[in-house]
Amino acid sequence: MSWFKNLFSKSSARRSAANPAAPVSSENVTASAAAPAAVETAAPAESAALPKIAIITGSTRPGRVNDSVAAWVASELAGRTDATFEVVDIADFNLPLLDEAYPAAYQNYQADHTKAWSAKISEFDGYVFVANEYNHTVSSALANALSYLNAEFNNKAAGIVSYGSMGGVRAAEHLRNLLAELQVAVVRNQVMFSLFTDFENFADFKPTEQNAGTLAPMIDQLIPWAQGFATIRTPQAAAV
Ligand SMILES: Cc1cc2nc3c(=O)[nH]c(=O)nc-3n(C[C@H](O)[C@H](O)[C@H](O)COP(=O)(O)O)c2cc1C
Repeated sequence: MSWFKNLFSKSSARRSAANPAAPVSSENVTASAAAPAAVETAAPAESAALPKIAIITGSTRPGRVNDSVAAWVASELAGRTDATFEVVDIADFNLPLLDEAYPAAYQNYQADHTKAWSAKISEFDGYVFVANEYNHTVSSALANALSYLNAEFNNKAAGIVSYGSMGGVRAAEHLRNLLAELQVAVVRNQVMFSLFTDFENFADFKPTEQNAGTLAPMIDQLIPWAQGFATIRTPQAAAV
């Protein structure tokens, strides 16, 4: 931990020399006292690229409504020019109940389904989780899919679209906890659809204008976070 102590003491020294109350930034630090180059060069070339956002389904149930909600999210976002969006359906990966011997953090994957899931999730800078609520929590299908991976999600951003009798809020809150362990930062704004008012006969997705209108503000928070986190996932940043 000596590197951390050194970093902290150098930062404190810089603060007290100029203005003790001033935050340390590239504007108020002289060139000679500047932080190490790896910290200063915070904007890698990739940050200029459009962030890639996956819209991840949460249900694999036959007859699910989840896919229609995910498709609606994708169609609503298709016109945006500040990110690219792609539906990633966990059902396509045919993930059995976790069957890897090693915890995901070891990245010692044996099964082809794990390798395919890992490769797909690694492609993205951020995620929109379409979360159904089962027994007041995250569906076992989604929790299982999350358990397969770890580093693939680290230092990325996410937003949640949930639905259920109470907007799926309990599933969404629990999902925030799961994602925190995977080092995914979930934006504050959230989209919540009611089975009673946003679905006809609890089956056909017909979102109310009011609830549909909450998607864009959530994405407006997600995209800058997805871009921001990309800057700390570079090999250069990892070496600091
Ligand atoms: C096993 C099970 C448990 C459920 N528990 C809840 C619940 O706790 N809260 C809720 O709002 N809806 C609950 N529901 C109703 C679901 O919200 C509803 O079936 C919804 O369509 C599920 O999403 P899906 O069709 O995409 O799988 C439950 C449904 C199932 C199948």
